[in-house]
Amino acid sequence: MQSLHFDADTLSSKTMSAEAAAALIPAGTHVGMSGFTGAGYPKLVPQALADRIKKLHAAGEDFRIGLWTGASTASELDGVLAEADGISMRLPYQSDPTVRKQINAGQMQYTDIHLSHVAQLAWFGFLGKLDVAVVEVAGVLPDGRLIPSTSIGNNKTWLQLADKIILEVNSLQNPGLEGMHDIYYGTRIPPQRQPIPLLHAGDRIGQPYLEVDWSKVVAVVKTHQPDRNSAFAAPDENSQRIANHIIEFLSQEVALGHLPKELLPLQSGVGNIANAVLSGLNAGPFENMTSYTEVLQDGMLEMLKSGKLSMASATALSFSPDALKEFNDNIDFYSKRIVLRPQEMSNHPELVRRLGVIAMNAMIEADIYGNVNSTHIMGTSVMNGIGGSGDFARNAYLSFFMTPSTAKDGSISCIVPMVSHVDHTEHDVEIIVTEQGLADLRGLSPTQRARLVIEKCAHPDFRPALRDYFERALASKGGKHTPHLLTEALSWHSRFVETGSMLETQDQPEARRA
Ligand code: COA
Repeated sequence: MQSLHFDADTLSSKTMSAEAAAALIPAGTHVGMSGFTGAGYPKLVPQALADRIKKLHAAGEDFRIGLWTGASTASELDGVLAEADGISMRLPYQSDPTVRKQINAGQMQYTDIHLSHVAQLAWFGFLGKLDVAVVEVAGVLPDGRLIPSTSIGNNKTWLQLADKIILEVNSLQNPGLEGMHDIYYGTRIPPQRQPIPLLHAGDRIGQPYLEVDWSKVVAVVKTHQPDRNSAFAAPDENSQRIANHIIEFLSQEVALGHLPKELLPLQSGVGNIANAVLSGLNAGPFENMTSYTEVLQDGMLEMLKSGKLSMASATALSFSPDALKEFNDNIDFYSKRIVLRPQEMSNHPELVRRLGVIAMNAMIEADIYGNVNSTHIMGTSVMNGIGGSGDFARNAYLSFFMTPSTAKDGSISCIVPMVSHVDHTEHDVEIIVTEQGLADLRGLSPTQRARLVIEKCAHPDFRPALRDYFERALASKGGKHTPHLLTEALSWHSRFVETGSMLETQDQPEARRA
C-alpha cells in the first residue's frame, strides 16, 4: 500500500529545523514519541522543545506536555524534558533519574502500564486524545512509506492516531535495518478482533515499513545522531549463581521431557542478571534456541553470533556501544536472524501463550508466598515500572523472577513476609531464583510455597526470622491457607524506613512477642 498524500516535493517542502518543528507542539497536548530503551527515540526535537519550554517558563508561561512513548528512552528525551519541568504526565514506562524524582515528589503523574496494553488503550480512547507524534525513522521510501529505526515500540499506533506528525529522519541509522521490521496492520478493536496469524517466533506476518498519511506530517527534521545505550557490567558473582541455577533447572526440565532440547522461545528482561543468564545459556548445553522477547541485549547478540540462538524477535535493539558496532559491522548476518515488531506484538499475551515463552525477569522483592514487587521501593517510591514483565509472566510457559537475596549491602532482604507492593501475584509467579537457590513453586499450596521460598531463596541472615514469622503466623488464630500476622507483615519495611536496616537488633524479637 502506498502512503497517502506523498509526491516528489513532499519531503523537501516539509523539512525544517528541530526548533521550528518543536514550535509546532502546543502546550497541554499529549505527545506520542518513539523510543524504547536508548534506541530509536527522536534525538533533536525533544531537546529543542525543552529549550523552548525553559524560555517560556522564564517568561512566566505555563507549558507542559503529556508524554507517551514505547518504554524508557534516553537523557536527550526524558531527561531534558523533565529537567525543563516540561512533563505533566508520563506513560507507560521510564527509567530516567530526573523523571523518577519528579514522579516520587508528586510533581509528575505517572501511569505505569503493561507494555502490550498501551496501543489498545490508546485505540479504545481510554488515554485521551493523541495530539502529536514525534517519531524517528531510518529513512523514507520514494512512495512515502517509512523505514523504521532501531526500535518500533508504539510508532505504528502513534502515526495512525496523532493529528500532527513530526518525523526525525536519522541518517546515522544503518541502511541495513531496511527489511528487518515486521509491522502487522491486522489489529482491530473488539468485537472485530481476529486471531493473530503468528505461529512461530520468527514468522513475518506484516510488512517491513510503517505507513503514514503525509497530510498529517507537519515537519520533517533531518538528524545524524547515535542511539544512547550504556555498557553492561561484567556479571558479578550473584548474577552468575542465579544464571547457573536457571540453566541447571532448564536442563532438568529437558531431561524430564517438559521442554524440547532447544527449549522454547526465550524472553529476557533487561539488566545485568538477565545478561548473565544469557551468557550462561551461550556457554551451556542448549542448541538452536529461539527468542520471543521485548528488548534484544548484548547477551542475545552473542548467542546469535555463536549460533546457539537461531533467531530473535523483539521490538528494540538495546546494545552497548561495543555490541552495536558488532551489529552494524555484520548487519547482513544479523538482519536475517532478527525480526523487530511493534510492542503490541512482541509482548502480546495471545502470542506469548501460544509460543510457550520462557519468561525471565528481574524483581525488587518477593514474599514467602510468591507475590512479586517489580516496581516499588518500600511500597511507595516507583523505581521504573512494570514494563513488559506482566505481559510475559502471566502467559509464559515458565515464568522466572530473579533477584539477589539481599540489597543495599545486606541491610534489605529481597525475600520478605509480605511484599510492599504487588505487580505479579502468586498466581503468575512460578519460579523464584536468588543466588541462594531456586524455588519451583508450580503446583504448590501457599504454605508449601512459603517453606520452599524461605529455605531455597532467602539469605541465611534473614532465614531464621522468616521461619519464625511463618511459624507464628501458622500458629496464630488467623486462617491457615495463607497465614499472616497482619500487624507484622510489613514491619520489615517499616523497620528499614526507621532504622536503615531490615535486620532485627538482639532485643527486637522479644519485644515483638510481648
Ligand atoms: N528493596 C529496596 N531497594 C532495592 C531492593 C529491595 N528489595 N532490591 C533492589 N533494590 C535497589 C538496588 O539497591 C538498586 O538501588 P540503586 O539504584 O540505589 O543502586 C535498585 O533497586 C536497582 O536494583 P538492581 O539490583 O541494580 O537491579 P536491576 O538493575 O537488575 O533492576 C528492577 C531490577 C526490578 C528494578 C528492573 O528489572 C525493573 O525495572 N523491572 C521491571 C520491568 C521489567 O521487568 N522489565 C523487563 C520486562 S521485558
